[in-house]
Amino acid sequence: MTILKVLHFPDERLRLKAAPVEEINSEIAEIAENMLETMYVEGGIGLAATQVNIQKRIIVIDISENKNESLTLINPKILKLEGEEESQEGCLSVPDYFDVVQRAKNIEFSYTTLKNEAVRKKIDGLLAICIQHEIDHLNGKLFIDYLSPLKRDRLMKKIHKQRIKKRRSKNSEQLDNESPNKIL
Ligand code: NI
Repeated sequence: MTILKVLHFPDERLRLKAAPVEEINSEIAEIAENMLETMYVEGGIGLAATQVNIQKRIIVIDISENKNESLTLINPKILKLEGEEESQEGCLSVPDYFDVVQRAKNIEFSYTTLKNEAVRKKIDGLLAICIQHEIDHLNGKLFIDYLSPLKRDRLMKKIHKQRIKKRRSKNSEQLDNESPNKIL
């Protein structure tokens, strides 16, 4: 198993639209396995292939408390959206940021399993929110796209500050690593 690198906003690769999986084979099974492992290590409850720079329509989810009820959804598709529900969301691609997003309360969706079975289901609750969030990823969309312009602006400033901070600490590390005899 391999832990994959999760892309972070504003990486432009998060904006790509993933292509449908044509054939479910061992390569797809391995991708799904690595995605699950990555999701568990990173502490997420869902992960879309787009987030690990694999542009295929694959999603993994596990909302169970004991992290032993994983779901792999190949070519997931929303067939019906009903009602409204607001809840707080976060995302492995937008670290340390949470905000309230409005989504459909009930969804009907379809997908193919790793065993090549076609599934069609109606659900609500956390799983419904999670599936909407992950399918958005496959379409190049992030939960922060739903925020008001003011909130988005604040988030961008926060990310900008974090980047400057990171760069500064990197620079000082380099200075520390310079061998002393180079200082004249
Ligand atoms: Ni996400």
